[in-house]
Amino acid sequence: MSLAPQDFLPAIQPWVATLDQTWPGAAVKPWFAQWEVGHLLSLVLLGGASILLNLRLIGFGLSDQTPSEVRRDVSPWLHLGVAGILITGVLIGASNPERLYTSEAFTAKMLGLLAAVILTYGVSLPLARNEGRAGTAARLLGLLGIVVWALSLYVFASAKLVNPGLWHVATAAALIVLFVSRGLTRIVYAAGLAGLIAIQFVTTHFVIKPDDFTRLDPANKTFFFVFAAWILGAAAVQVVSSGRNEAGAGAYTKAMAYAAILVWVTTAAAGRWIAFA
Ligand code: HEM
Repeated sequence: MSLAPQDFLPAIQPWVATLDQTWPGAAVKPWFAQWEVGHLLSLVLLGGASILLNLRLIGFGLSDQTPSEVRRDVSPWLHLGVAGILITGVLIGASNPERLYTSEAFTAKMLGLLAAVILTYGVSLPLARNEGRAGTAARLLGLLGIVVWALSLYVFASAKLVNPGLWHVATAAALIVLFVSRGLTRIVYAAGLAGLIAIQFVTTHFVIKPDDFTRLDPANKTFFFVFAAWILGAAAVQVVSSGRNEAGAGAYTKAMAYAAILVWVTTAAAGRWIAFA
């Protein structure tokens, strides 16, 4: 079953077909590349701000500032990045609308964007304002954000030719855990990751021939789940074993901070994979 916008919004097809012939789509079309650069620079801004803020909630990074101070300093850049990515996104989208209308990656991306807005504005920023302590609203919105993110991941995973983009999300998760874990956890985790990478390489290059896609696809999917379990397990150990950090951030806050970074990575990865559908 395809989950592109054209599959569940067939009625808007005539409108979509006019978008690149009318303002602003028609005006942006000759300058698509320039506007897309603006899209990516906005991503750099919002990504950097989100990473600094959420790493602080996890208990890593700008430790000479409290979470509320980090929030105060990074939120103007975060807001600017989010506004920039939405404005440039709508403009480049209007100039090439049928690409998005027929793209399952775009559905995954919009669900990811909704989840990212909920997890950032409804959860991370309020948690940072309260120095990591979670109230009822942050808990309920956290649950909602995770459900919408799960939907996005489901669409991403079920989209043909697009689902390899989920390796970006796994890679980002693997790197965050590598940075924030400490001591023995980090050594065991890194050794496990290196071992898995080596086993995957040998399996998919020598045991299975590199052009034998009927066997490679299921093998790579299995490896994905093994990597995901290893990374999630290590993240859980890190969250629990590091205890309540000096900012009062418990396991819930740290788990939400991981999610609030990775949900933007999911959205960006789905955005990149629109091109490959
Ligand atoms: C209203 C929201 C948005 C719209 C309408 C939109 C639209 C687009 C369009 C039309 C493209 C070009 C796709 C192609 O032709 O291959 C694109 C690319 C991309 N978008 Fe968005 N976008 C939006 C939000 C976002 C957000 C929130 C992120 C990141 C978190 C993001 C990250 C990206 C990335 C990484 C690319 C790939 C750029 C490249 O490969 O050169 N977008 N987006």
